[in-house]
Amino acid sequence: MRQFEVIFISFPGNLGNLVPTVQFARHLTNRDPRFSATILMIDICERPLVNAYIHSCAASSPHINFHHLPPVDPPSPDQYQSSLGYFCLLVEKHRPHVKQVITKLLNPTELESESNSVRVAALFVDMFCTSMIDVARELGVPCYLFFASPASFLRFMLHLPTLEAQLATDYTLDPKTELLVPKDPAAVLTIPGFTNALPPSVLPTRVLKKKNDGYFWFLHHAGRYTETDGLVVNTFRELEQHAVDSLCNGEFPPVYPIGPIVDLAGPAQWHPDRAGHESIINWLDGQTPSSVVFLCFGSLGSLSVDQLREIATGLNRAQIRFIWSIREPPKETLDLPGEYKSLQEILPDGLVDELEGIGKICGWVPQSKILGHEAVGGFVSHCGWNSVLESLWFGVRIAAWPLYAEQQMNAFQLVKESKMAVEIRLEYREGSDLVLAEEFERGLKRLMKGDDEVRKNIKQTREKSRMAISENGSSYRSLGLLIDKLAVNT
Ligand SMILES: *[C@@H]1O[C@H](CO)[C@@H](O)[C@H](O)[C@H]1NC(C)=O
Repeated sequence: MRQFEVIFISFPGNLGNLVPTVQFARHLTNRDPRFSATILMIDICERPLVNAYIHSCAASSPHINFHHLPPVDPPSPDQYQSSLGYFCLLVEKHRPHVKQVITKLLNPTELESESNSVRVAALFVDMFCTSMIDVARELGVPCYLFFASPASFLRFMLHLPTLEAQLATDYTLDPKTELLVPKDPAAVLTIPGFTNALPPSVLPTRVLKKKNDGYFWFLHHAGRYTETDGLVVNTFRELEQHAVDSLCNGEFPPVYPIGPIVDLAGPAQWHPDRAGHESIINWLDGQTPSSVVFLCFGSLGSLSVDQLREIATGLNRAQIRFIWSIREPPKETLDLPGEYKSLQEILPDGLVDELEGIGKICGWVPQSKILGHEAVGGFVSHCGWNSVLESLWFGVRIAAWPLYAEQQMNAFQLVKESKMAVEIRLEYREGSDLVLAEEFERGLKRLMKGDDEVRKNIKQTREKSRMAISENGSSYRSLGLLIDKLAVNT
């Protein structure tokens, strides 16, 4: 009998935010039959993949209800300068609608309460939806942060106000890159949550580039995390012991590392291009174990044409079997990357034909199906946290090639702190940097052939990640504590 309703709201725009939220809702409602979940959807047009995903989830998860919030007028262009700013304002505008939905759940009609006495146990907001904390407070509903990035980055976000002061005095703007650089070129940063000092070059672009409102929104949301009743993080203690400990110093709300929650079924379940996926898996079936490298830069990741050429040349030189997922840079700020129509046009003559002899070039891919295939031995990744957790789950070594958001810091953590990845280029900045074919080829060879320490660590982490969520594992127990609290609070 479902007695407790948990409500989720996640940042609109792309699947990278929605998938972990839905997976967590599914994980919670599977774990404890007293819970059901409502996921509040902020609909934005022309996201067919998001719709396909929701339809598939709704069909396969009877205890999750997707509730589409009514549309609002979009923010006017003079109110924002970045896509983050646009979406944050869009979320804020939904506050009255969210309040209405929760109010209705809190005050069921007589008929509803007779047939079904469900009580609202909590509202979960994600990292950029903190405006909804106000709604929870007004209605007296407990509110939790669901954080789908690592604990180390959560600790970093909580450190931002302190860092802000340090950047203001010790840093200056480099006129060429328009990024903040330390006045003392040798300066490194001590950030709680990391055991090693960080080179400033791995900080998120938004923090180093204060030109637009992206940084303002970062700081704004980070400042509100401590207003919640708890910080639920998609990670596990064994992976981020130091960072988790640094969050448990009494300064912050209770921390619940409940991961890794990964989408193992993945787009294979719902993506329209089923035939394309099958042909990839069939091709993998014909390869020897651990021989194939998989290159994928996430649902928002795209590289310049020059960079694609260098990768193509590097792949051809290395002669390592590969699957390469390519996306085209978006044309407008609010667009998502598209699929490349013709590589022939951007690559040197004959190179596409040569590459087709060693690997497969494709658009959207069933990532977890590929990482879980025994033919795959390495993953060149942007180090988005979902991808990292999937790769660790399957014990696939990572070559870190971060692009945006907190990915440079994730890459630093994986390469320097936990030694679970090799490096392509840690401080890569989209748009301004270029990794040449030779450097890429060297990274590929390190990934596929070298580094026994990384190999050993990845293997152990694969076991630890599975232990963490199995009965009595660290994340299993942590979720149990959270459930106890949710059930008491109502
Ligand atoms: C988990 O812990 C409980 C209580 O200590 C015990 O009864 C149970 O057998 C454990 N389960 C596993 C799978 O170890």
